[in-house]
Amino acid sequence: MSQYRIAVLIGSLRRESINRQLAHGLFKLGPADFEFHECRIDDLPLYNQDDDSHQAAPVKRLKQEISGAKGVMFVTPEYNRSVPGVLKNAIDHASRPYGQSAFAGKPAGVIGASIGSIGSALAQQHLRNTLAYLDMPTMGQPEVFIHAKEGLFGEDGQIGEGSRKFLQEWMDRYVAWVKQHAA
Ligand code: FNR
Repeated sequence: MSQYRIAVLIGSLRRESINRQLAHGLFKLGPADFEFHECRIDDLPLYNQDDDSHQAAPVKRLKQEISGAKGVMFVTPEYNRSVPGVLKNAIDHASRPYGQSAFAGKPAGVIGASIGSIGSALAQQHLRNTLAYLDMPTMGQPEVFIHAKEGLFGEDGQIGEGSRKFLQEWMDRYVAWVKQHAA
């Protein structure tokens, strides 16, 4: 059985999402003792603080998935120079009620792709700000801002040869980061 279960939050609900494909390509670069679980976020209600005392079933599920994980991986595009609302909504849900955040202390990795030339850099930067507030030790380097172009994925749908070594380096560092910080 995998020793290290990682909760993965993807900032796009799009069927053909580049970021989902990137995430699943990255999972293949992880070692055998790591298991990656894509958390569902498309059935979460819009966050409303009135509901903190009776969180909806999908919110409870998300919080359990994160609480039970050794680390969290965020894979996100950039929307209007920031984090997509669907991802922020999921983060807000799992961080509440106050004092009962699922995120505190969980080692985090941030990565993302966009079709723009800055490759989700500003979204990632905004996200890092949120993760610092949530008390998540977040891997600083290597930063990976992927400008999605032809060849990013091979014909088999996996990460293409041109990016594989670079992304393997990211994964290796993330694995070491989780092992260093996981309780
Ligand atoms: C975008 N896109 C985008 N790209 C970027 O580099 N910087 C940005 O600020 C934005 N803003 C933005 C806003 C909205 C509402 C949309 C729908 C798109 C383009 C974005 O990078 C592109 O759609 C990616 O393909 C989205 O990622 P997924 O869905 O393929 O994972």
